[in-house]
Amino acid sequence: MSASTSPLSLPVIVTRLRAAGCVFAEDEAHLLISEARTPTDLVTMVDRRAVGVPLEHVLGWAEFCGLRIAVDPRVFVPRRRTEFLVHQAAALARPRAVVVDLCCGSGAVGAALAAALGRVELHAADIDLAAVRCARRNIPAAVGQVYEGDLYDPLPTMLWGRVDVLAVNAPYVPTEAIELMPPEARIHEPRAALDGGADGLDVQRRVAAAAPLWLAPGGHLLIETSDRQARQTAATFARNGLIPRVVSSDELDATIVIGSRPALQNGGSGPGRARSSST
Ligand SMILES: C[S@@+](CC[C@H](N)C(=O)[O-])C[C@H]1O[C@@H](n2cnc3c(N)ncnc32)[C@H](O)[C@@H]1O
Repeated sequence: MSASTSPLSLPVIVTRLRAAGCVFAEDEAHLLISEARTPTDLVTMVDRRAVGVPLEHVLGWAEFCGLRIAVDPRVFVPRRRTEFLVHQAAALARPRAVVVDLCCGSGAVGAALAAALGRVELHAADIDLAAVRCARRNIPAAVGQVYEGDLYDPLPTMLWGRVDVLAVNAPYVPTEAIELMPPEARIHEPRAALDGGADGLDVQRRVAAAAPLWLAPGGHLLIETSDRQARQTAATFARNGLIPRVVSSDELDATIVIGSRPALQNGGSGPGRARSSST
């Protein structure tokens, strides 16, 4: 729909979104107008956004690594900072790598890795059925397999010892910090997508404990974490026999820990503008 055929004028929408606390009200208004299929559609979209529904849920998609990722209601919205996880994982993948996107949510990480790497064997899994359905839209069968279940449980055992890149953005918010999150996340994203337990690291510990069974020799586990939690995440990796290093991007405000299964110890530091430190 064009601004001239819109049932609500651009300034009216902008004023409404601003009053609702949308910082990028003008950009959002343009997006809503261009994405609405009908005038009624636009009114509904503006109403939903004004009551705090995340823009990506209103639009039905999020931009991630240059892709348009479908994001269904009650599915975690992929964050810009997670693009750093994709960049680091892509830099470590060999040709035709076996890639697993665990805790895949919408499947954004897996879809972006497949797009970046071309020929990969991609598997993704999530415990939440809504996320799995959404991920299957972003990772169609021709691109990869998406499974439903608790962490590694649904993955085929033929992947034992074969995974080159295990990319994970699991929940890592400490339970007590959830109430400090913006309402868009607290109210519209499932608690299981955010809550990482008392110190935020419950799911990460489980991921790291089983990773050596699945990783190929020289394979890598990459987990998104926070600056504050990175040392603990790295220590968990080390306890499970992985050689950890912490990598950060100031630009994306992102921190990940990379744990390599010994045999092919990697010495690279990944793509540009990243800070890296061994722990
Ligand atoms: C922070 S979201 C990240 C989603 C996606 N990786 C991304 O970056 O957009 C965490 C995801 O982990 C999933 N999850 C939480 N606990 C899980 C578990 N035990 N097994 C599998 N998935 C789990 C949630 O359903 C949610 O989709």
